[in-house]
Amino acid sequence: MSKDLFRKELEQLRPYVPGKPIEEVKREYGLSEIEKMASNENQLGPSPLALEYVKRALNEVNFYPESTAVELKRDLADYLGVGFDNIIVGNGAEELLSLIANTFINQGDEVVVASPSFGIYGITTSILGAKVVSVPFKVKEYDLDGMLNAINDKTKLVYLCNPNNPTGNIIKKKDMDYFFEKLPSHVVVILDEAYFEYAMSESEYPNGLDYLQKRPNTVVIRTFSKVYGLAGLRVGYLITSKEIADVMNKAKLTFNVNKLAQEAARGALRDKEHREKTLEMNAKSIEMMENFFDQMEFDYFKSYTNFIFVDVQKHSKIIFEGLMKQGVIVRPGYFWGWDNWIRVSTGTIQQTKKFTSTLYTFYL
Ligand SMILES: Cc1ncc(COP(=O)(O)O)c(C=O)c1O
Repeated sequence: MSKDLFRKELEQLRPYVPGKPIEEVKREYGLSEIEKMASNENQLGPSPLALEYVKRALNEVNFYPESTAVELKRDLADYLGVGFDNIIVGNGAEELLSLIANTFINQGDEVVVASPSFGIYGITTSILGAKVVSVPFKVKEYDLDGMLNAINDKTKLVYLCNPNNPTGNIIKKKDMDYFFEKLPSHVVVILDEAYFEYAMSESEYPNGLDYLQKRPNTVVIRTFSKVYGLAGLRVGYLITSKEIADVMNKAKLTFNVNKLAQEAARGALRDKEHREKTLEMNAKSIEMMENFFDQMEFDYFKSYTNFIFVDVQKHSKIIFEGLMKQGVIVRPGYFWGWDNWIRVSTGTIQQTKKFTSTLYTFYL
């Protein structure tokens, strides 16, 4: 087939490498038990109230879903204290990242991202012909001055992932204030807060909605995949100014979020108990991992999320494959060019113990 058949931007793109499915790993390594600690999912399971809402909606799947997720948007508007017209619901935050690119990017535009950060920012924009300017971390933080310096007249979007994936650290409020003060007005800031709920009780963590109030050129993204435990149903949402949301709605596919997902999200939003239990389990798992890493004298980022990025002092490909053979799946850091680091998601006490004790066997 001729290369010319395809969009030329796709030639430069490396395919995204997702984690292997549990069943495949079981078969390949002859294992009966696998702990998947690679995709920052909620190991407590989905919110029970979300499941009740799904069950109620099951008999209605012969109908198309509500195209603008009216009821979920109403619930979110109440919950967040924002206007109904400021919200767009997506088939996961990932779809919203694609919608953002489709709304703003013309061939030759530039976007600024940090490195390491969530790879989808670069994929969704470069596919449409944007130049992705990547600014490496300075020591263990976003290089905000470096990102400001990378902005020019062609820059459309700047992505801040807060807390950041894969490192788990936050941009502190005072640094975010500084960044927003210096930012040229033509640039749209995408504040990805997929892990918001894990960081929100931290006094130094800034809430993206406060910046949106002052600066309409801001988009805040959140998701039901993490703390709410609904990664498999695919629901995320963004909050932005009405001017931006109105244009985005033109680019949104009509029935982008299915009915069961919309209902599950409504149930999960009401399930305070599940959220609290999740945060409690997460804090315990983080503490256990940090204690283990301290004992091993491993360097790691302080995490404000449901995962930790840690320097395991050996090539991450070796550790990743070795752990997988023993039934623990993590994310190797060499994907981001951090060869000796791995990203491990939190889990139950049992899962966390299995991870630390298995990792320990590589240092005996
Ligand atoms: C920073 C960040 N943004 C967005 C997403 C996408 O979330 P969703 O499952 O809602 O598509 C993820 C998922 O891992 C993420 O880590």
